[in-house]
Formats: sequence, C-alpha cells, structure tokens
Amino acid sequence: MEEIFPFIGYRGRRLFVEDVDVQAVAKKIGTPAYVYSKAAFSYWFNEFDSAFGDVGHLTAFAVKSCSNIAILKLLAEMGAGADTVSAGEIFRAVNAGIPSEKIVFAGVGKRRDEMEYALSCGILMFNVESRQELETLNRVAEKIGKKAKIAVRVNPDVDPKTHPYISTGLRTSKFGIDYDEAFDVYMKAKEMRWIEPVGIHFHIGSQILDVSPFKEASSKVADLVKALRDKGLDIEYFDAGGGLGINYHPEEKPPAASSLAEMIVPFVKELDCKLILEPGRRISGNSGLLLTEILYVKRKEGKTFYIVDAAMNDCMRPSLYDAYHHIVPVEKKETVEIVDVVGPVCETGDIFAKDRRVGRCEQGDILAILSAGAYGFSMASNYNSRVRPPEVLVSNRDFKVIRERETFGSLIEGEKILWL
Ligand code: LLP
Repeated sequence: MEEIFPFIGYRGRRLFVEDVDVQAVAKKIGTPAYVYSKAAFSYWFNEFDSAFGDVGHLTAFAVKSCSNIAILKLLAEMGAGADTVSAGEIFRAVNAGIPSEKIVFAGVGKRRDEMEYALSCGILMFNVESRQELETLNRVAEKIGKKAKIAVRVNPDVDPKTHPYISTGLRTSKFGIDYDEAFDVYMKAKEMRWIEPVGIHFHIGSQILDVSPFKEASSKVADLVKALRDKGLDIEYFDAGGGLGINYHPEEKPPAASSLAEMIVPFVKELDCKLILEPGRRISGNSGLLLTEILYVKRKEGKTFYIVDAAMNDCMRPSLYDAYHHIVPVEKKETVEIVDVVGPVCETGDIFAKDRRVGRCEQGDILAILSAGAYGFSMASNYNSRVRPPEVLVSNRDFKVIRERETFGSLIEGEKILWL
C-alpha cells in the first residue's frame, strides 16, 4: 500500500482502509459516511501507550474526540481508561466496558446530577476546576454517602503554542484553578469530610506539536506535589492531560509519543506517582476519514467548486478553526486542479478546503476527507435538519456499520406539536 497514514492509502489507483476498498463502502452504505480503521486505532494506541511503558500509567482516552461505543470497546480491550467531561460520556465509557476505576471526569461546569452519577459509578477521580465546584462536590458526596476522590485541575500558565481556541493552560483561560491558588484549594479539600484528594491534574491544550511546554508544566506541577506532600497530602496520581498533536498534512511528521514521554516521565518517576494521560486526537485523529460524494462541479472563470454531500454539520473543524484536512479522491486522477471543496449548508463558512490542489474530479466522484477520526463525528450536529452520517468500522477485509445513518424520525424525535 502507498500509505498516506498508517493503514490508509492507495493500492494501485484505489484508496483503501486496511484491506477494504473505500469505494465499496460508499456504494454499500452511501455518503457522507465516517470510516474508521481498527488497525489504525490499535497502532496509535500502542504508539502512545508503549512510549510510557516503563512507568506505571493509565492511558485514559479522551472520549470527546471520538465517542462511539464500538470504538470505546476496542480501546477498553487494549487496556485504555477514559477521560470524560459529562455524565453522558461516563455513561458511554461504562457501557463500552471501560472499568469505572479507569475513568476520570473533568469539566468546568459539572452539574450536581452528573456528580451523583459519577459517584454512583465509582469513577477514579474528579478533576475539580473551581472552589465552588469542590464545595458542591463535598455536599453531593455527603448526600449519597460516598467519598469523592479528586484531583485539582491546575492551570500551570504555560503557552502550548497552538490555536487559541484549543489553548487551555493559560491564566486567561476559563479552565482549572490558578497555579498560585491551587495549594490553598488543596488545603481546603483536605479538611472536607467527603473529599479525598488523590491526584493532581493539568491539561494545557490540544494539537500541540512542540512538546517542550509539557516539561515546563510538569515541572511546575511536580513542585506543587512536593509542597502538598510536605503537608501530609497523599498525591498518588499525576494526570498530565492530553494534547499531543497529529500531522494533518501527510508529508509532515508529528512528534513521537516518546518525545512527550521524555518531557513528563522524569518528574513522575522522581515523585513515584502513577501517571495518567488523556490523549484523544493522537489516537483517533488519523484513524478515521469522512467519505463524501461530489454532487456538482461548478466551473466558472478562474474558479472551480466541488459541491459535496458532506457539510459543516458533519465535520465542523474546517469551518470552526479554519483547520486543514487533506482531501483525496478515492480513485486516483491523472491531473490535478485547484478547487474549493464546499458543502451544501447555507453558510459561507461551509468550506472544507479553499484553493486546494485536488485530483481533477467529475460529478459523482467520491472524496475522502482525511484525519477526521477526532472531533469529526463527535462534533457533528443536525444543523439545516441534516441527518448525521453513519460510522463504519473496518477490520482487515470486513467493514461494519457501528452507528446507523440517522433518519427523518431521529430528526424530530422528542419534538411535539402543541397548542396552548
Ligand atoms: N483532557 C482534557 C481535559 C481536555 O479538555 C481535552 C480536550 C483532552 C484531554 C484531549 O485533548 P487531545 O489529546 O484530543 O488534544 N474540538 C477541538 C479540540 C478540543 C479539545 C478539547 N479538550 C478540535 O477539533 O481541534
């Protein structure tokens, strides 16, 4: 295979995911459709997990990046835990067979009912993001008579040098508790009857390609752990969050997971903590793609549009972050042309690619929007009353639908026509 990403590439003129010709998937399932590779998931999980091999650790997959329970089940079988941000994500993780003692729960706005649910499931720890949240959690834990294990999400104030919308570890962001304040919050937590501080957490951002900010953050947070231990707090877990980036351009190379490990592991070894990591995109991003059919080709003076049947509601990263996704025809073309690939939604921002060199296609050809496994389907919506696409999982020569295409029925489910 002429690989574009592991397990995704051309055989002769046709695009394959593992041993499956994706044109056959488009024929059978229709488009738009997300297609994931089981082998790619396992490749990326192992690349990440083995980089931390010599230190006791838990790779807690960030469910928000790709939430399908079939995918979570695959990862559960590989030994993954889950990083969650809502009761819904905990529900998914538990249903997919991820043991609750491998689930961490972050988020700046946890509701009381979500706390109750998480406590009743017996999750590993809450990553607490404010003083008020800590007090509320203490009350909820008392109400249900179950101690809440926590880490404080510390905002280490380091610049992850990534897109501003996905930077989270700066003082100006809404996430976590300021570094200077965290010690005091731990002291309060220590006094609370229904709270048990067991860990420390940080997450500095996403799609990070320069791993040095992880060293800076780990070093700051490790100092805090030492200060807390001096006060008798038993900080057992060091949760370094997610954020390791991927290459969206096939010709670029992302940092190896082992270089991330080099930034964090020395601190964790010195502290003798258990390490938790929360990778999302690194595992799911290049494990999936989105198939879409060219509905119409509009060629006018100096400009060509490929109007495709996927849209910003199906995959919103290009519209929302101006993100680059490599796009290739599923059948290789002889010549290339420069085009805009656009969706049918009534928004100017419904664009997948602008002035992009793509193989010269015609109406009815199928394109693959690559690197769509992370924050692709999981961010999809029904905007413009479009049904969300199906998700398909490839394994060797087989492929199976792991989420059906929605129907008109799903669009209006729960809605009521009432008169007052
Ligand atoms: N842990 C926490 C606490 C997080 O907030 C996130 C992502 C992760 C882990 C996983 O980060 P990853 O390893 O995937 O970078 N929708 C955006 C990304 C938002 C990330 C939000 N938090 C995108 O499509 O680029």
